[in-house]
Amino acid sequence: MSEHADRCPGPARGRYHIETWGCQMNVHDSEKLAGSLEREGYVRAEGAGQADVILLNTCSIREKAQEKVFDELGRIKRLKRANPELMIGVCGCVAQQEGERIFKRAPYVDFVMGPRATASLAPTLERLRDGDPTAWHVVDTEYRRDSILFPFDEIRRDGLGSGKAFVTIIEGCNHRCTYCIVPTTRGREICRDMDEVLDEVRGLAAAGVLEVEFLGQTVNAYRDGRGRTLGALLQATARIDGIERIRFTTSHPAQMTDGLLDAMAAAQPKLCPYLHLPAQSGSNSVLKRMRRGYDRAGYLSKIGGLRSRIPGIELGGDMIVGFPGETEEEFEKTLSLLDEVRYGTLYSFAYSPRPGTAALGLPDELPLETKSERLQRLQARQKRIQEQANERWVGCELEVLTEGPSKRDPEKWTGRTVHNRIVNFSGPGRAGRRQTVKITESTAFSLAGHIQPGLA
Ligand code: 5AD
Ligand code: SF4
Repeated sequence: MSEHADRCPGPARGRYHIETWGCQMNVHDSEKLAGSLEREGYVRAEGAGQADVILLNTCSIREKAQEKVFDELGRIKRLKRANPELMIGVCGCVAQQEGERIFKRAPYVDFVMGPRATASLAPTLERLRDGDPTAWHVVDTEYRRDSILFPFDEIRRDGLGSGKAFVTIIEGCNHRCTYCIVPTTRGREICRDMDEVLDEVRGLAAAGVLEVEFLGQTVNAYRDGRGRTLGALLQATARIDGIERIRFTTSHPAQMTDGLLDAMAAAQPKLCPYLHLPAQSGSNSVLKRMRRGYDRAGYLSKIGGLRSRIPGIELGGDMIVGFPGETEEEFEKTLSLLDEVRYGTLYSFAYSPRPGTAALGLPDELPLETKSERLQRLQARQKRIQEQANERWVGCELEVLTEGPSKRDPEKWTGRTVHNRIVNFSGPGRAGRRQTVKITESTAFSLAGHIQPGLA
């Protein structure tokens, strides 16, 4: 048989449908899950109702996220009743955390597979298809290195037309923040080899990608087997023809070394002047109880270092309010940190107790009302900051990487500036291209404008 015939896809094995919750890492994991299904001859279904395999790629960072998965499983139960051949798998962080308990709540689920066990998806499905009874109700939560070293040419990337792609460079987390379940669900850090990452980026550039975003729970802890750090990777990526924008997320403040800050400056202008640097709290005593490994002054000095090296750099952050024992005074320190840093984007959350985390043992869990009242105050304060910050762009011409038509208004286009601002605009949009947009309006959460003739 010729080599070509070897590679011809056989008849479709069936149709798959994947639902994804949570962070960008999960979104990208779903692209890998889709890739391994397609390698096995599955094709994408129009929706859950048409699928032979349904995977739920889940998030357990907060209780609410976790409960959404069980709500969805309740809906999928109908489909299994109508089609007993349907295979249902729960993947991702809830799978890792809940294991066997998922079958107790949803016995019609066929298998449970943690985020580091995805390399065994294909063999599991094959055994289930063959009717092997020992494949049913299996919980696979092993940490397998080959799950992160997924062959990148087999990743099913949907967003390539948007000109942007994610590339995982490190998985897992070696920190032990007392509120966080990630070290339990994703395990300890594993880094990919830098040459392999660069090959992947070159392939993406050849496919027309202009923007790459490196991913990891603690992306700035990246150091490959030969000691090459994120700084080295950024500089090497900046030399790749075709790549115009580089981002990375999420960074831990304690690991923002001077060496990395210098490398970020050296990777300008391709490295976008925006950094997601979660503080989690503005209060030293809370940071200590969270075991974050820095204090407010230390955090602010990293920001000073960034701003002096990369003028105009904007910051994004994450904040948790209502951590156990948080006093009004401690909470106000968080509010004042918002004023001091003036984040361009902020994700804020009410503390949610997670199983097996150290914060569960801390006294003085706050009542729900206090947590939500603080969250509202924090979000109102941040909204004003963003309103003011975004107003400054009105009247400017900004470079936008056009992602595609706006989901809300198909007459409009949507994209992001280098500072990670969302821009909705009218005019001749071209997905996957950098375009110049004249900004005419702003809100706290986005900018609006149009392409002027001669600007596109
Ligand atoms: N409760 C609330 N927020 C949490 N986060 C992580 N764990 C918890 C928790 N138990 C938030 C942190 C983190 C973001 C991804 O989710 O702010 O940076
Ligand atoms: Fe969780 Fe802390 Fe690790 Fe981030 S650094 S994933 S918050 S333990």
